[in-house]
Amino acid sequence: ATILVLHGPNLNLLGTREPEIYGATTLADINLQLSERCQSAGHQLQCLQSNAEHELIDRIHSAKTEGVDFILINPAAFTHTSVAIRDALAGVEIPFIELHLSNVHSREAFRQHSYLSDIAQGVICGFGAQSYDLALSAAFSQLA
Ligand code: DQA
Repeated sequence: ATILVLHGPNLNLLGTREPEIYGATTLADINLQLSERCQSAGHQLQCLQSNAEHELIDRIHSAKTEGVDFILINPAAFTHTSVAIRDALAGVEIPFIELHLSNVHSREAFRQHSYLSDIAQGVICGFGAQSYDLALSAAFSQLA
């Protein structure tokens, strides 16, 4: 199967960005680990990080035409703001998991609402970089 991982705004700074909240692992480390796991499981992995809402939306649209089977998305701050990303995911009808490094429910009130959670297959948050691994394991089970 083909799995697409989408990383939202500011996640390019992982490793140096508020490490007490987001950890020391870089985005390149995360993507490498995910792609190695996908490769050994016989799946294809594609990754995109963007700070621009429209790029994430365009990538979700092209996922449909490319036949992407499953999406893992850390929408970052767009989680709490973007009706447009919600509509894109609903529009392509590709199953997805929402994930976060931090436990958004233990943080500021504005992080406790997500525009995506109710249409996601599931939501994983609070395990740092391991949230991505847990999400990938869940995706493998969903695809099996
Ligand atoms: C985040 C949580 C969001 O609230 C925040 O805006 C981010 C990262 C996380 O992975 O913990 O940028 O999605």
